[in-house]
Amino acid sequence: MCGIVGYIGRRDVAPLLLEGLQRLEYRGYDSAGIVITGKSGELRTVKAKGRVRDLEARVPKRFAGTTGIAHTRWATHGAPSDANAHPHADAAGAVSIVHNGIIDNASELRARLTAEGTVFASETDTEVLAHLIARSQADTLEQKVSEALRSIEGTYGLAVLHRDFPDRIVVARNGSPVVLGIGEKEMFVASDVAALVAHTRQVVTLADGEMATLKADDFRTYTTEGSRTTATPTTVEWEAESYDMGGHDTYMHKEIAEQAEAVDRVLRGRIDDKFATVHLGGLNLDPREARSVRRIKILGCGTSYHAGQIGAQLIEELARIPADAEPASEFRYRNPVVDPDTLYVAVSQSGETYDVLAAVQELKRKGARVLGVVNVVGSAIAREADGGTYVHAGPEVCVVSTKCFTNTVVAFALLALHLGRIRDLSVADGRRIIEGLRRLPGQIDEILKAEPEIKRLALHFADAKSMLFIGRVRGYPVAREASLKLKEVSYIHAEAYPASELKHGPLALVEPAMPTVAIVPDDELLEKNRAALEEIKARSGRILAVAHQEQEKADHTIIVPKNEDELDPILMGIPLQLFAYHTALALGRDIDKPRNLAKSVTVE
Ligand code: M6R
Repeated sequence: MCGIVGYIGRRDVAPLLLEGLQRLEYRGYDSAGIVITGKSGELRTVKAKGRVRDLEARVPKRFAGTTGIAHTRWATHGAPSDANAHPHADAAGAVSIVHNGIIDNASELRARLTAEGTVFASETDTEVLAHLIARSQADTLEQKVSEALRSIEGTYGLAVLHRDFPDRIVVARNGSPVVLGIGEKEMFVASDVAALVAHTRQVVTLADGEMATLKADDFRTYTTEGSRTTATPTTVEWEAESYDMGGHDTYMHKEIAEQAEAVDRVLRGRIDDKFATVHLGGLNLDPREARSVRRIKILGCGTSYHAGQIGAQLIEELARIPADAEPASEFRYRNPVVDPDTLYVAVSQSGETYDVLAAVQELKRKGARVLGVVNVVGSAIAREADGGTYVHAGPEVCVVSTKCFTNTVVAFALLALHLGRIRDLSVADGRRIIEGLRRLPGQIDEILKAEPEIKRLALHFADAKSMLFIGRVRGYPVAREASLKLKEVSYIHAEAYPASELKHGPLALVEPAMPTVAIVPDDELLEKNRAALEEIKARSGRILAVAHQEQEKADHTIIVPKNEDELDPILMGIPLQLFAYHTALALGRDIDKPRNLAKSVTVE
């Protein structure tokens, strides 16, 4: 959730690191800090509570150096403050460290070090590591760091500078991403390629338990025990420009607007018209294995979990394999029964969400087969899974997920079609779904053209204190995702309910001050959904419907183009992304960085 960036080379390091931090700020943003190696090897640190711009304002004019590390923080241990901001140092200022993750035995270590006379300057778990490294009697920085790491339990992605070893940065990873950027006589390190791609697209992603030493013209990787590992750089497929705002005022708006293009990308090169199916090269599941799958269990968090719910329905409908989705954060704590005939699918935009990763690791430990449906290539979940498919949404910077949700659902439609055609889905139905998939980009563009009207509706409802979102079967996960979008970006309370459950309780909430957003697709449940609208209307509830045709009982209807019944959920959530966006804009919210949230939740 926090961000790390580091550089060693010949360029002036402070502007490079500040620019890298700006690009990482979406990961966490309550404080930031930077440390550079000064002319005589001394470590010079500046820290600030607040945004990267607050840090920038504090960096002195004379702050020259060509080696440094920096951090943007999202508080876990200790409140946001200058003192708790990273980097953290030992009392003598010999060691400086930036760290993502959580040290589970920090209190115990802190108590021990305090008893031995160490004075702590912050409340963070990270500072413990700085002291441990400084106290180590080992000869090299690499040995000092690995010795310190052996005393801690927990997760880390970290970078270390040492006054006595000014020619290097030592980094390590366990459960929190670390990527090396390989340049010409310069090296970078970051927790996310976003901070690197403007300078190099040659990267090495460290594995858990791996460390690296970066020097200006060289790098090497090794295990925490010191054995050399091989690291072959790969090329990042995302361009630096895809991280820019591209003329939009916010990343959220940009990412909503580029969904047609993103969907086109997830479909590209995968459709096989001859056999009315799709090819998903990375699944590592041959037809015989695919036929023997008896259940599919999808695991994800937040928006990815909602995408997984729609995915489960698509799999049941098209492949007739029983499927369901569950929050990975719950699954991993309930000692689940792991069934050898079940195929597990882990869904994650970042590929780094700790709860999902931990669920995958637990499943692998119990011998299950796990596929990943992931956006970030080479991320921890993608690497841990036995196979899977990338969703090719391109980088998503806004904390609030939009285009990745849409692309993930399309990726599930592809998986469902693939499995369906191996099993009992007919050629005719395969063709019908393929034609539907091909219509999606054009239909998304059509929906986005209605933005002025959606904005008008958002302004109309922006004074609501709470909103109800309802949908039935295919529409229910759409309602859940739309309700999450509204609450996280506008801070308006929103609750999603199956429309079929209205009478069993939530109808009591309905009154003019509690508007309802209803998902009303033109499918076999249309009349049932209309009955729900009548029930709400009869209680003077205000209704905004998202439907394929004007809804008489609704006060307002956003009409979306009709696709195949199974694919309609992909389109029906998109106008509600814009609805959430314009509501948040009207309320003056910090759209790309909603309060208390971070893009990538790499801690429990
Ligand atoms: O990177 P992931 O898809 O694994 O992230 C999962 C959730 O943390 C994420 O979807 C979160 O709910 C977003 N803020 C939704 O907009």
